[in-house]
Amino acid sequence: MDVFEALKTRRAVKKFDPSHKMSTDEIKTLLEHVILSPTSYNQQNWRFIFTTEQEIKNKISIAAKDQPQPKDGSLVIVLCADLDAWNKDPTRYWMHHPPERRELVKKSLEVKYSNNPQNIRDEAIRSCSIAAQSIMLAAKHMNLDSCPMIGFDYEKLAEIIKLPENHIIALMVVIGKRIGEPMSRGGQLPLDEVAFENSF
Ligand SMILES: Cc1cc2nc3c(=O)[nH]c(=O)nc-3n(C[C@H](O)[C@H](O)[C@H](O)COP(=O)(O)O)c2cc1C
Repeated sequence: MDVFEALKTRRAVKKFDPSHKMSTDEIKTLLEHVILSPTSYNQQNWRFIFTTEQEIKNKISIAAKDQPQPKDGSLVIVLCADLDAWNKDPTRYWMHHPPERRELVKKSLEVKYSNNPQNIRDEAIRSCSIAAQSIMLAAKHMNLDSCPMIGFDYEKLAEIIKLPENHIIALMVVIGKRIGEPMSRGGQLPLDEVAFENSF
C-alpha cells in the first residue's frame, strides 16, 4: 500500500474480528520489517513481546481494563525496552562496520547514557514509539488494522509478560481484522497551530 494511503486509512480500531488469525509467516514478515525502524546509534533497545495465544490475550484484555481489542485482535505486541541495551556489547550494533567506528559508537553511548537514567528512558520511549508507527503502517500494508494502547494496568501487564529487571513497557499495539467502520476522526488541529516554519 502507498504510504500516504496507509497514513490516511490507519485508525485506532476498537472492534476486531475474533475469528481472524495471522500465520507465523505473516507475523515474522511484519516483525522483520519493523526492526528496520531507526533507533539512536542503532542501539535497538526495543524488545517486542508478541502473542496470538487466546488465553494470554484474554489476560491482557483484563489488564487493559476490559478493553476488548487484545482478546479479539489477532496479534498483540507489547513494546518494551531494555534499559541496559546501550551497555550490552554495543559494538555489535555496528557489526558490519570497521572496528574504529564500532568503538566510537560504544564511547558515544557511554557518554550519553551512563549515569543518565532520564536519557535512557527517553530513548526507550522514542525507539518504541517509532516502532509502533512502523507496526501500524505495516499492518495497513498487510490489509490489517491496529490499535495503539496505553490504557492498561502496568504491573498486571508486566506480570503477564514476565517483564525482566531493568526493562520497561512503553505501549502495546493490537493488530487484527476490523469489524465495521471506525468512528469518524476526532478532528485534526489546523496545521498552522502545530507546525511552524523555522522557529516558534
Ligand atoms: C500512546 C497511545 C495510547 C492509546 N491508548 C489507547 C487505549 O488504551 N485504548 C484505545 O481504545 N485507544 C487508545 N489509543 C488510540 C487513540 O485514542 C487514537 O489514536 C486517537 O483518538 C486518534 O484516533 P485515530 O488513531 O483513529 O486517528 C491510544 C493512542 C496512542 C497513540
